[in-house]
Amino acid sequence: MSAQQDTPPSGNGLFRTKTVEQSIRDTEEPEHALKKSLSALDLTVFGVGVVIGTGIFVLTGKVAKESAGPATAIAFVIAGVVCALAALCYAEFASTVPVAGSAYTFSYASLGELVAWIIGWDLVLEFALGTAVVAVGWSGYVRSLLGNIGWTLPDALSGTDASNGFGFDILAFALVLVLTVILVLGMKLSARVTTVVVAIKVAVVLIVIVAGSFFIKAANYTPFIPKAEPQPSGSDLTAPLVQLMFGYTPTNFGVMGIFTAASVVFFAFIGFDVVATAAEETRVPQRDMPRGILGSLVICTVLYVAVSIVVTGMQNYTQLSVSAPLADAFKAVGRPFYAGAISFGAAIGLTTVCMILLLGQTRVFFAMSRDGLLPRFFSKTHPRFHTPYRPTILLGVIIAIVAGFTSIDELATLVNIGTLFAFVVVALGVIVLRRTRPDLPRAFRTPWVPALPIVSVAASVWLMLNLPAETWLRFGIWMVIGVIIYLAYGRKHSRMSTGR
Ligand code: ALA
Repeated sequence: MSAQQDTPPSGNGLFRTKTVEQSIRDTEEPEHALKKSLSALDLTVFGVGVVIGTGIFVLTGKVAKESAGPATAIAFVIAGVVCALAALCYAEFASTVPVAGSAYTFSYASLGELVAWIIGWDLVLEFALGTAVVAVGWSGYVRSLLGNIGWTLPDALSGTDASNGFGFDILAFALVLVLTVILVLGMKLSARVTTVVVAIKVAVVLIVIVAGSFFIKAANYTPFIPKAEPQPSGSDLTAPLVQLMFGYTPTNFGVMGIFTAASVVFFAFIGFDVVATAAEETRVPQRDMPRGILGSLVICTVLYVAVSIVVTGMQNYTQLSVSAPLADAFKAVGRPFYAGAISFGAAIGLTTVCMILLLGQTRVFFAMSRDGLLPRFFSKTHPRFHTPYRPTILLGVIIAIVAGFTSIDELATLVNIGTLFAFVVVALGVIVLRRTRPDLPRAFRTPWVPALPIVSVAASVWLMLNLPAETWLRFGIWMVIGVIIYLAYGRKHSRMSTGR
């Protein structure tokens, strides 16, 4: 062991870093340890389980109709490339620092406590709101299925949206609570449930691709990239920041529309980074992490591109539905049976997405509390189930309430900006850790450092700039609140500062 490896945590202030060895040692204290039970296959199933969700099932129709037309397939490729670049950076970090907490832990070991806190706080936003978004999307599909058999919920229990104003989404609320109980009972159960559900979900996506391809009309692909049109007037804040920055009249469609679409369908890829949050529960993280992360990403990109090509070929993009585009495209070509099966599979599939986002959320919270940046009360694992049951229950209840009272649209872009920000920090972290800790064993090495991480940063920032100005504003407010909490609590209670 080198002398450097035995040195105590460096620095005393905002930039003190926790050594990688300390991070790993912390996880070995029995009362704070999680079970190591996951394999590469579990992780891939996990990845696909969370990645395929509201993004492909719901947002595809919206972006095709409002921003990109048939070129939505290109938007998926762009978003996929941005994620692949980030994944190569995530994989190095996850295989070097195999402890719970994802980008949060990685930054603690490389960029310092303040950055780690910021990223942890940012991940809370990503996962908590992501869980809520998906729960609300799930509830929409379930209501549509109930509608098929003649049951309708009263408006007051069907959620909040523009048409009925205030409402409580009882289904979304209930789903999050049930999943919280499953997570408290333990990883093993969750992984088993996940496998079955992922199989159903992938089968549904394949049905869309294969059955749908028989109904494609070549005429629907013309124009492939619809001409740019001025955005309907409204608040300027809804326009992509990049268009406002450069003084353009905000437009939909055209080449810029493809980027707008990419920044929205990016939501469809969120979740592969959650695989990295399970590093501590992985049997051989050095080998299995990169396989799990990259494997799930490749599978999903191929499926998304295929689905968007098929759906925009089945129906003219101007006719696509924005709430259940995959099922409704089959209704439009006179195949209601397929439509019903797709809705059913989507409703089942979205449950795992919700569950894994919730899991990622509780693991980040757990890691932050173990480090003392949040109250340590939350970092005791359950004596029997070995799960971080306290943050799971606390966050589960809060997210259930948020899911009950919010609508999808604005939350999804907020989740995207938070995730892209995390990508930027992770890519920078790879470069920094290579310089500060070249000695660490890296089972997976990001190729072409620093060029690839720099391109990854640029690509993520570009997608962020294509998100609406109001999303930036909300994100800024959330982060300011986070910094205030850190200065008021975390800085003093941090394990790095108390020495406990
Ligand atoms: N990628 C996940 C989804 O599309 C979060 O629902």
